[in-house]
Amino acid sequence: MMLHLKLPTDPRWVNIAEKNIEDILIDHAYCEQKAASTCISLIVQYPEKDELVEMLTPVVAEEWDHFERVLKEMKKRGISLGKMRKDEYVNQLAQKIKKGGSREQQLVEKLLMSALIEARSCERFKLLWQNLEDENLKEFYYELMVSEAGHYTNFITLARNYLPREEVDKRWQELLKEEKEIIENLEPRSDRMH
Ligand SMILES: [Fe+2]
Ligand SMILES: [Fe+2]
Repeated sequence: MMLHLKLPTDPRWVNIAEKNIEDILIDHAYCEQKAASTCISLIVQYPEKDELVEMLTPVVAEEWDHFERVLKEMKKRGISLGKMRKDEYVNQLAQKIKKGGSREQQLVEKLLMSALIEARSCERFKLLWQNLEDENLKEFYYELMVSEAGHYTNFITLARNYLPREEVDKRWQELLKEEKEIIENLEPRSDRMH
């Protein structure tokens, strides 16, 4: 799987995450909720873009299914959803998004940001799949890893629909670099998916 991320996750993360799986699951549930909400927002902000509406509508359902499945894993462990926590990674990424430009440029910024979050989530799910002890959770994260890789591809494909490919690819490389810097400077946390 080619995700093109420029910095692999600190290998210590999965060890500390496993010890704190309750908090990881809560944070993960909200990642799925935000992914579904973001797709819904894109659909209502760009209703004239037929391919976008067509491609993202089933993604909303998939993300919401992921949310439901995380809640089930939490229920098995007696964990309540609780309040949403601050998402430092996503907040910092959001600051890298260029404001202004054409409607299409703004859309491409949003699509590439979603692609980055999908790619990083996919990478983290892969680590959880490969390293967790709990067989059920391993399987769960394997399936989610495959699904998020598909979403990543959807967002990149859509972005290339709305601006020339060279322009999209150039911006993608810039954002990959920004994402690398963000990851480098974020201390790996035991209670966050990112
Ligand atoms: Fe998801
Ligand atoms: Fe996703």
